[in-house]
Amino acid sequence: MLILGLNMFHADASAAIVLDGEVKFAVAEERLNRRKHFGGFPGLAIKACLDAVGANISDIDHVAVGQDSDANLAKKVQYALANPAKVLNFIRLRQRKEAMRNVRWLIANALEVDPAQLRFQEHHLEHHIAHIASSYYCSPWDKAAGFSYDGSGDFVSTMTARCEGNNIEVLNRVFLPHSLGSLYTMICEFIGYTQYGDEGKVMGLAPYGRDTYCHEIDKIVQLEDHGFQLDLNYFKPLGSNQGMQVLPDGTVRLARHFSDRMLRLHGEPRQPHTEITQRDMDLAFALQRRFEEVFFHLLNQLRQQVPLDDLAMAGGCALNSVANGKIFDRTPFRRTYIQPAAGDEGLAIGAALHTFHSVLKQPRRHEIKHSYLGPEFSDSRIQSALRSVGLQCQKMDRKMLLDAVAAEIANGKVVGWFQGRMEWGPRALGNRSIVAHPGLPDMKDVLNARIKHREWFRPFAPSILAEHQHEYFEHDHPSPFMLHVYKIRPEKRKDLCAVNHVDDTGRLQTVTRDENPVYYDLICAFHRKTGIPVVLNTSFNENEPIVCTPEEAIDCFRRTHMDVLAIGSFLVLKNPTSSDERLVSSSEAKNS
Ligand SMILES: [Fe+2]
Repeated sequence: MLILGLNMFHADASAAIVLDGEVKFAVAEERLNRRKHFGGFPGLAIKACLDAVGANISDIDHVAVGQDSDANLAKKVQYALANPAKVLNFIRLRQRKEAMRNVRWLIANALEVDPAQLRFQEHHLEHHIAHIASSYYCSPWDKAAGFSYDGSGDFVSTMTARCEGNNIEVLNRVFLPHSLGSLYTMICEFIGYTQYGDEGKVMGLAPYGRDTYCHEIDKIVQLEDHGFQLDLNYFKPLGSNQGMQVLPDGTVRLARHFSDRMLRLHGEPRQPHTEITQRDMDLAFALQRRFEEVFFHLLNQLRQQVPLDDLAMAGGCALNSVANGKIFDRTPFRRTYIQPAAGDEGLAIGAALHTFHSVLKQPRRHEIKHSYLGPEFSDSRIQSALRSVGLQCQKMDRKMLLDAVAAEIANGKVVGWFQGRMEWGPRALGNRSIVAHPGLPDMKDVLNARIKHREWFRPFAPSILAEHQHEYFEHDHPSPFMLHVYKIRPEKRKDLCAVNHVDDTGRLQTVTRDENPVYYDLICAFHRKTGIPVVLNTSFNENEPIVCTPEEAIDCFRRTHMDVLAIGSFLVLKNPTSSDERLVSSSEAKNS
């Protein structure tokens, strides 16, 4: 049975394909059309899904969409009627969404096929149920507490659920305009981070702040039984777009969230790309602190309703890895499964798996232990891509490649590392990564100056061999998808100085051989040379979506000041004096 899952006309449009209950392939449209957070129709992603399993669209039995504009309709109408100025917008939005619901026509149009060929049954699933399904049905558990939170989806910002067997029983919803995601976005915008997806930057800024505005920011959110309320005086009223608008070309645009009250209290908002002041850091600090307090309040109440150790979690706010790292200290939950694509691209997997398990009542079979669900490319394709731009390269067997790359990293070189299938979700986890030495004091500045050009306060992340986690970090719960931040042990901070944030934490990826043998063996090779079982890992890109194809990786390598490219079985070095690439000398080169 083939099920196609979709997130469409929403930020991070995506597609996933499920064969007999197993997720075979999943990709966000942005990786294919190269438009960050693209929110249109995922036509290229659908084609890639079909190609990956060798199917035609006529082979698809079910199409499941992680959005249901009929969900929570009474709440939407109630809100519109209470805000008469919004009624016209509300009606327009409904009309627009109706046009977008014609999935059969949209797919036929994108694939240029006759709609009569399409025999699939169509399913629409409420946004947050799809988030929870994306996590629970990929987890190893047959029962768990389910939690989802984000800006908004189908007029809901937060959902709790009891997950058991093939059933996700919704326990509670927090409806708009009350939203922790909106709170985060509002303050992000006020301190100059106005783009969709900027929240992670402000999370990194927060530890530089002081407790100046906590009392003030705390007042914006009131805790309630199984929920919370925002003080709406701090917010512009919601428009037709629930704070976020997808333009006809798929661009995602945020509406201004903060009201004039923020100006009266805190002065002028910071303009993007201007100097960050102590006020901005202090607001970030207060925001992150209040966000965590509300989050743990919600989790502790959920735990009372579902007294289990296991928590399955998704939604854009579940990417807040700082909060995730404190779950084990602040709640009774003992294990988490957080969908690697916790944001809205993950809806495609959630909708498809919900159809398989909850609608069709098919048994649970598969656990997703890794995020490598995207496209991969053969050595012959990689070689022709290298040749087409005149790059000289050396083909190596795996051991030689690992030794050579580990030596380069140990020598302080910056390595583009392109291997196997692309990651699903926003994190590069060792297949489309830039890797470097974590223990060189100037490495963060080197990476920023030469390649990444990120804000000075944003930390880089460590990938660590899972069996060494307890030696380096104060928590040993695994973090395979780089979604937990833990304290680094004092005696190890020097070894990890390039990934040690200002509050002595690191957003780690734990790596096992089962999940990614090539990346695991690379870190082992580096460990043998340096005694450090960790590499610095940042995404393989330069102000663009993470590279997907060999051509994109090669282009990024050539236009930035990366030293080395390890792509498939090939190694390319850049000559630091002429910036030309040169052939690597090796015993294999001499022998071949
Ligand atoms: Fe969402």
